Amino acid sequence: DAFPAVASTVEARTPPYTKLLERLQNVRRLLPTRSLTLAEKILFSHLDNAEESLLEGTNNGADIRGRATLKLKPDRVAMQDASAQMALLQFMSCGLPSTAVPASIHCDHMIVGEKGADVDLPNSITGNKEVYDFLESAAKKYGIEFWPPGAGIIHQAVLENYAAPGLMMLGTDSHTPNAGGLGAIAIGVGGADAVDALVDAPWELKAPKVRSVRLEGKLSGWASPKDVIMSLAGQLTVRGGTGYIIEYTGPGVESLSCTGMATICNMGAEIGATTSIFPFTPSAHIPYLHSTHRSSIATQAAAIAASPGPHNLLMADNGAQYDDEVVIDLSKLEPHINGPFTPDLSTPLSRFKDVVKANGWPETFGAGLIGSCTNSSYADMTRCESLVKQASDAGLKPQADFFITPGSEQIRATVDRDGTMQTFEDAGGMVLANACGPCIGQWSRTDGLNNGQANAIFTSYNRNFPGRNDGNRKTMNFLASPELVTAMSYSGRTDFNPITDSIPLPNGQHFQFQPPHGTDLPSAGFAAGNPLFQPTPPTPDASVEIAVDPKSDRLALLEPFQPFPEGELTGMKVLVRVKGQCTTDTISAAGPWLKYKGHLPNISENTLIGAVSADTGAVNSVIDTDGSTHTIPELATRWKSSSQPWLVVAEHNYGEGSAREHAALQPRYLGGRIVLAKSFARIHETNLKKQGVVPLTFANEADYERLAGCDEVETEGLYDVLKNGGKGDVTLVVRKHGSGESFKVEVRCNFSPDQCGFILAGSALNLLARKG
Ligand code: F3S
Repeated sequence: DAFPAVASTVEARTPPYTKLLERLQNVRRLLPTRSLTLAEKILFSHLDNAEESLLEGTNNGADIRGRATLKLKPDRVAMQDASAQMALLQFMSCGLPSTAVPASIHCDHMIVGEKGADVDLPNSITGNKEVYDFLESAAKKYGIEFWPPGAGIIHQAVLENYAAPGLMMLGTDSHTPNAGGLGAIAIGVGGADAVDALVDAPWELKAPKVRSVRLEGKLSGWASPKDVIMSLAGQLTVRGGTGYIIEYTGPGVESLSCTGMATICNMGAEIGATTSIFPFTPSAHIPYLHSTHRSSIATQAAAIAASPGPHNLLMADNGAQYDDEVVIDLSKLEPHINGPFTPDLSTPLSRFKDVVKANGWPETFGAGLIGSCTNSSYADMTRCESLVKQASDAGLKPQADFFITPGSEQIRATVDRDGTMQTFEDAGGMVLANACGPCIGQWSRTDGLNNGQANAIFTSYNRNFPGRNDGNRKTMNFLASPELVTAMSYSGRTDFNPITDSIPLPNGQHFQFQPPHGTDLPSAGFAAGNPLFQPTPPTPDASVEIAVDPKSDRLALLEPFQPFPEGELTGMKVLVRVKGQCTTDTISAAGPWLKYKGHLPNISENTLIGAVSADTGAVNSVIDTDGSTHTIPELATRWKSSSQPWLVVAEHNYGEGSAREHAALQPRYLGGRIVLAKSFARIHETNLKKQGVVPLTFANEADYERLAGCDEVETEGLYDVLKNGGKGDVTLVVRKHGSGESFKVEVRCNFSPDQCGFILAGSALNLLARKG
């Protein structure tokens, strides 16, 4: 009862190996003496014009990393439903009959978790019908595979169906690198970047540096693949991966499963890495490709990986040079717990109870949530099952509410068939829909704790910014492996260490967990699941009408933005000087707002509502020039209506977290022209430029303190820099609100010639439409 492995489907999903190998030979000819990392081999064999990208401005190929602008032609695009709306609205304005590369849409983000899959899924389908109809009709018209609500989470579906060794893909979601677990270069982008690939325009990437994470030893006991990336996040921090691809190397790689590698790559997003990748690993990848009905890809990949170095697309060259290396000994790795509120606050389990006490964090927690795109593999589920069985045999029930989110229908149907799901349900667990649900704020919590009260939850998810799960900014989300979340749910205490501590039983004895065990792949193969959850075929049909009701509050066609003025930006005012962390969740909140992803005016009402103003010290509270207090989107709207342009001032890693292009589109729509920050997260910086917002960084970070809300700002030199393809210096002239005192702030900018073109045209889409 497996999914039928239609030969033509598998062929259509096989990377173009012959073409890639020819291109690799061309790269060898251009760089005859240079050994290549795996990431470079795959990226460079996807260059539109290798000679231009690798030799121009790079000292003839000697200085590629961090210097070269790679113009890439990805093999495929995947989009989740929330971001697909804006990507498709942008694609539609290009007037093409079909997408230039294969693409898929996955309906996962808009499904609420509340009463269990059977109730939540039909309710969400009804509530989002207009948007799903729009996505499905666009998919049919343009030949995009449409995975309906209930089919699963984008990254799990991609791993099971599209990821393959040597593939290069873009995904409109920051955890797209999950596919690196199967040897693909998979990069999270905004919708405007996805449109580049969909219309066959080269997609630009500054050549990343490459960091080796060398794995030694072998995991055992409670340590899991999740702990590799959790401990790495602690070492490198949320900014540590910026500008890097993380390439896993070393003998420890061989001991991991394909899905374990995917978990590790998934959370590379939490350290800001461009992407993460594992080399083709026959012991893990061949069985996974076989069991997901792609044996022909396994055979081709194995043959390429067995070929000599220069022709081997799927392994790094011997002697490949990395920019740096981190070593992790898997044999010594302890389980980690990360959080709250940031994924790099990493604590080894053995120290966690002391840290809970020292910080005064809650001693109990209300919910344990396992699954999601990060951790719902067969291995994850069966390892958790082994723990639940131990506890059930001892007569125990979870003390915290226990939720399970399967990553795909294939996984759900398989663990259902194999009895794992029944074990969870018998223990009192609630199975949610195959969707993002509580991971993206779509959690209708029934225990009353989403009311602003401080409380703790444990999840096997990947991200834990304030308000991310239940909309309550005081909910402390502690990230851990699904095994740890499961075991801790039986105690309900944050200071419980399942390796050393026991749980008292009514008979006076004590129960102690034994280490979890599970199976990487189901011995009976994956179950097919509900046939209604299969994707639509990728055949374009020009006769399909895409309906967008002009009165809709969910969808609105896009109006082009105004081009850059012919001269400097003048008369801008500082809307808000943001204090501390400012993620894409801060700039464009998820949860109930996901509803308006296809309606730019409506979703703009959430702009920066999570931001703390350095002037008022309060969240979402700023003061206008007349002394009146407003929410940030209220003031932005007020200024938009009086044609008052504005800028945002911020601290480090502005826009960290996700590929959410709304975080760039909304400020642009409301009249934002510049974001001036101490530093930016990569995807967000690109998204800003694509939408015509100018990202600038302080040359001297101390100048952040000199600015305040309502200060007036104008640029000096910016127009020339944009006209000259990104070369030259920019200064800001600041006039203080109130005193009128004036001073200059030196800033840095980082634009490629193409990005200058986007900004001057008003947005990348304006430029595409003009060229079109
Ligand atoms: Fe969805 Fe959460 Fe993953 S939102 S795509 S399950 S990170």
